[in-house]
Amino acid sequence: MANQSKKPLLEISGLTRRFGGLTAVNGLSLAVGEGELVSVIGPNGAGKTTLFNLIAGLDTPDAGSVAFDGRDVTGFTAERLAGLGLARTFQHGRVFGNLSVLDNVLVGAHTRLRAVRPGGPLGVPVLGPLVELALALIRPASVRAEEERLRAEAAEIVALFGERLTPRLDKPAHSLSYANRRRVEIARALALHPRLLLLDEPTAGMNPTETAEMLEIIRGLKARGLTILLIEHKLDLVMQLSDRVVVMDHGARIAEGLPAAVARDPAVIEAYLGHKAVGAANQDEAGYGEAGAVIRAVQ
Ligand SMILES: Nc1ncnc2c1ncn2[C@@H]1O[C@H](COP(=O)(O)OP(=O)(O)O)[C@@H](O)[C@H]1O
Ligand SMILES: [Mg+2]
Repeated sequence: MANQSKKPLLEISGLTRRFGGLTAVNGLSLAVGEGELVSVIGPNGAGKTTLFNLIAGLDTPDAGSVAFDGRDVTGFTAERLAGLGLARTFQHGRVFGNLSVLDNVLVGAHTRLRAVRPGGPLGVPVLGPLVELALALIRPASVRAEEERLRAEAAEIVALFGERLTPRLDKPAHSLSYANRRRVEIARALALHPRLLLLDEPTAGMNPTETAEMLEIIRGLKARGLTILLIEHKLDLVMQLSDRVVVMDHGARIAEGLPAAVARDPAVIEAYLGHKAVGAANQDEAGYGEAGAVIRAVQ
């Protein structure tokens, strides 16, 4: 909680997004301090991913504002925000299937450099081996040296995931397991050198071993001082990692506080268990079951 007294790196205020008659995010305010790890939890459809889209510039709010490092960035494009140091991963994972693991991660580094030096020699997206080769032939040595440095750095980031990705650096992303594609996505986000990392259900589809590994990786990122906003269904992970937990339901914040206190909050229990009782047949039953179990355990 010590971090909460620091100036917020991210400050959203009255954020609202409507889809027709549905208010997916409803007047939400939230601040994340530098170095803090804040988790956003809530039942499916609560508006968590929409909130991320609004923060990361993939969607525009109907009302409210987003400030990053004290600057109003409402309405900025995702690329501009990436240049400022805001990186995100997607709930269902998004990688470039035909690019290798290494090139996927390099996309993150190139996005960063393009933002810093628009139109510069490295302002070229990763275009595949042939184009890469053609460019390599006409590039001055200084640029080639920089490319080498970026590759070494990308390999270093990939090594965060132990032996999961390193032996597969040159494999196309489409040949990877689902869990590995999610790791590649996080590696790409890290290659941006983010100041704020938004992770949307990073352990979705992962088994308990893979989930435990991811927990350690996120813990490591946090220990290095990275500010993280995490959406996660697995509440045991949320409880272990978070400085603070924000609970959303129907687009609004229904609770916020220390993990253990939030898990005891009657409104939270109602949101999880109430939804479970009503919609177990067509909702993410595993997610709710786990949430319910953890809430009961902490009670
Ligand atoms: N592009 C969209 N158009 C219409 N409705 C949307 C769109 N995106 C999300 N929604 C709706 O907004 C609500 C919140 O969705 P979402 O943010 O994905 O929730 P969560 O990530 O918490 O599960 C849901 O009812 C969803 O169907
Ligand atoms: Mg979602």
